[in-house]
Amino acid sequence: MCGIIGYVGKASAAPILLEGLRRLEYRGYDSSGLAVLNGGNKIEVRKKSGRLANLKGLIKESPVAGGCGISHTRWATHGEPSDVNAHPHTDQSGKLVLVHNGVVENYQKLRNVLAGEGHVFQSQTDSEVLAHLIGKYYDEGDEEDLQRRLVEAVRVSLSQVAGTYGIVAMHADVPGFLVGARLGSPLVVGLGKGENFLASDVGAIVSHTKDAIYLQDRDLVYLTQDDFSVEKVDGDLSEYEVSTVDFTPEQAEKGEYPHYMLKEIFEQPTSIQNAFRGRLIDDQASALLGGLGLTPRELRDIDRIVLCGCGTASHAAMVGEYMIEHLARIPTEVEIASEFRYRNPPLDKNTLAFVISQSGETIDTLAAMREGQRKGHRVLGIVNSVGSTIARESDGGSYLHSGPEIGVAATKSFTSQVTVLFLLALLLGRMKHLSVEYGRNMLKELRELPAKVEKILLQSEHIRQIALKYIDAPGMLFLGRQFNYATALEGALKMKEISYIFASGHASAELKHGVIALVSEEVPSVFIMPRDSVYEKNVSNLEEVKARKGPTIAITTEGSTELEEIADDVIYIPEVTECLSPILAVIPLQLLSYHFSVARGCDVDKPRNLAKSVTVE
Ligand code: F6R
Repeated sequence: MCGIIGYVGKASAAPILLEGLRRLEYRGYDSSGLAVLNGGNKIEVRKKSGRLANLKGLIKESPVAGGCGISHTRWATHGEPSDVNAHPHTDQSGKLVLVHNGVVENYQKLRNVLAGEGHVFQSQTDSEVLAHLIGKYYDEGDEEDLQRRLVEAVRVSLSQVAGTYGIVAMHADVPGFLVGARLGSPLVVGLGKGENFLASDVGAIVSHTKDAIYLQDRDLVYLTQDDFSVEKVDGDLSEYEVSTVDFTPEQAEKGEYPHYMLKEIFEQPTSIQNAFRGRLIDDQASALLGGLGLTPRELRDIDRIVLCGCGTASHAAMVGEYMIEHLARIPTEVEIASEFRYRNPPLDKNTLAFVISQSGETIDTLAAMREGQRKGHRVLGIVNSVGSTIARESDGGSYLHSGPEIGVAATKSFTSQVTVLFLLALLLGRMKHLSVEYGRNMLKELRELPAKVEKILLQSEHIRQIALKYIDAPGMLFLGRQFNYATALEGALKMKEISYIFASGHASAELKHGVIALVSEEVPSVFIMPRDSVYEKNVSNLEEVKARKGPTIAITTEGSTELEEIADDVIYIPEVTECLSPILAVIPLQLLSYHFSVARGCDVDKPRNLAKSVTVE
């Protein structure tokens, strides 16, 4: 939530900042702004509400020049999206500028104190208070080394902040010098030749450098174009390492696709393969998840599993619960991270906890992990973003290797999360009662998945035609059973978040317990009903909807042609073992919501009110 990029170097800062903001826009798009220090030690600020295009227009009218600057794309927390609430924010003197990602929880108290001292605020934001605070301590400082004085001002100010921050600050009297710090909101240092960067995400800087330092909480960094230094906000030494970014700038672009979401849907044959590549052991008919760091004895002793995540990741966790209980017979629970962190659930020593997160930065998931660790538990991560906070702080785990996911709606991360959870279920199952033959069959099924996904993707146009048929639908129901109950929830989430129509997912049998009241001629019901152990039950539920004149769309296994007589529309998926069916069944749902929303004129990559990575509570 909110994207930050700062630059110091020989090049002109504004184009680099604007390009970085374009790559960060998925983190928030309520407003954007930048500040550049020109040669005459004057800070020029340009900011504008709405999409980045508005800021670009403003800069075209009123250009800025200089080789040192900071910028921000905002997801509003305190204060409506407006020009004045856009970042950067300036202090009382007008010489210090700051961009901030996070929430200053005690901002009202700090603001009152500063107002009492004569500070006048322009915006309703919590962030502006931080700018004033840093500016005040800078002005009061007596350190002759101005760089040091700015660092100290940042340090003292942050010690008074309750809440979270990823910040970059710059002062007109300290040219060519940026100070950054993080607590709870990500910040990465990019190391170039004769230039350095600070950004919320490596995606913003990968076209300039592949050398990055993923800062840890309470790290404070300052940089010039040729040098940098990392220490702790409290002055202690900080340990850091320089990592190499694991993807190319091209991977972070949408290429020939009209939207990132469509690109990412079409990447799934590859991303699913990447999730299991090198993790199948044929001679043991099992899976290898070396990153778990558990001995065979420890794995055997696990008698309960907790899977924790938010949104789509929690739906993947639900599929995981069914898979693990089915294949490994280990009781498994799914916990919504925001509930888990405050609920204080009992965990005993043989419980294995996983947090699941594409971004590795979701604040509730991160807090749930830390809460588990605080109680002395080992908490493992299933994460996509390399170097993210969860990846670094978890006690081991598995990467998804999906490559960057930029469309706000999660697509390929869901199928990769389910794939990794399947590997876990298989590994645990093979430690217990699953036969070699069963294990071999599962490996075969996994290997066949990418080609089956390709086959579904070929139906994109057919699915688009179905979407167009229901284009005026005011709402949509998604129904599934067993492994595909979670798929129904995920289908509904995709539909509502990008099309803004009401959509809800249910276990098909729940229809008669209330949901059926929503069925009408205008509201289509999408049944996820592969030919599996509950197929006939789903057919009965579909008939019940039909009897009430509700339009129906069935997603079923190739060959179930009898459904063409009952359902209004049928989408086929290839035959697959029951527990892997969500990976195939979700693809038509992703395409349905995509085509439906595009046809309704929605911005599917940047749906209203949302941001990709939820780093505030
Ligand atoms: C839905 C979606 C969100 C995320 C959720 C968790 O399409 O993208 O529901 O799944 O915010 O995000 P991560 O996986 O980054 O923790």
